[in-house]
Amino acid sequence: MRILGIETSCDETGIAIYDDEKGLLSHQLYSQVKLHADYGGVVPELASRDHVKKTIPLIKEALKAANLTPQEIDGVAYTAGPGLVGALLVGATIGRSIAYAWDVPAVPVHHMEGHLLAPMLEDTPPPFPFIALLVSGGHTMIVEVKGIGEYQILGESVDDAAGEAFDKTAKLMGLDYPGGPLLSKLAEKGTPGRFKFPRPMTDRPGLDMSFSGLKTFAANTISANDDSEQTRADIAYAFQEAVCATLAIKCKRALQQTGMKRIVIAGGVSANKALREELETLAKKVGGEVYYPRTEFCTDNGAMIAYAGMQRLKNGEVTDLAVQATPRWPIDQLKPIKS
Ligand code: KG4
Ligand code: ZN
Repeated sequence: MRILGIETSCDETGIAIYDDEKGLLSHQLYSQVKLHADYGGVVPELASRDHVKKTIPLIKEALKAANLTPQEIDGVAYTAGPGLVGALLVGATIGRSIAYAWDVPAVPVHHMEGHLLAPMLEDTPPPFPFIALLVSGGHTMIVEVKGIGEYQILGESVDDAAGEAFDKTAKLMGLDYPGGPLLSKLAEKGTPGRFKFPRPMTDRPGLDMSFSGLKTFAANTISANDDSEQTRADIAYAFQEAVCATLAIKCKRALQQTGMKRIVIAGGVSANKALREELETLAKKVGGEVYYPRTEFCTDNGAMIAYAGMQRLKNGEVTDLAVQATPRWPIDQLKPIKS
């Protein structure tokens, strides 16, 4: 069985074709980063208009790359939320319409479930159960995962998401949007120990997190120091170190609380090398393992939507002719998949 996946929830148009026996057959990605860079952040209206231009050509490309005709596709999965409503509506409307034209089912997919399941596309997928640290531009949460759709949120950010904190701090440092990867690159040249940022909300029990204070701490540190390249790198290092250490402390608690040993990291910030290393160290200490997607599938992509869509399609979760776009959609409202 083959499914076409469409991702348009934010500033990336991602299309992929997934086969439940052969795996991923093709995937295409168009990033709108350049379009939004001048504005220092995603402009929702521009994002929607660009998805309108790119989605259908990329679907054609994906079919061509997989050497398939539309008649060989058995379902169409599209991101139905959470995300920017206009951007979601583009993928949802195109996905639903194509499914109608091809006379196959349409499957609405939860974007964060897509991220959570992205490591399943790798050669060594994580076995259930595990703790998932979902760290993207819009969400930061720790989820206890017993199976597909069996999600319990153990903690989440009460303000900025980790990726958002990276981007806002990067902006303060004069880096382009999205600044997360650029800040992380700058941090590579940083001197450990020159600055020390706080580890927010680690002095009290629980798994909730807060990252907006780190941005303020960064702003104060920037204005109190010179703006040499080395100082900027040292600040970037201290900021990144604080985010990673905080996430690791919370993950450690989640492992202790649940008795689990496996950690999955997914979402844009899971591409961050320092975070991966920090969690590898934690896992080693507890005799556990860390899993994450290949770098290109950490950030938004169509492959994770096609994969999640396939699981939902096999579970019979198809919609009628409705176009579903749900900008706010808690992940723990999803249905467990009967195995
Ligand atoms: O998952 P994603 O592509 O989009 C959302 O669903 O939000 O995540 C994008 C976020 C951005 O905030 C970006 O700066 C961050 O992930 N990001 C990183 C890195 N790569 C992407 N943050 C830190 N280090 C990275 N290497
Ligand atoms: Zn995402």
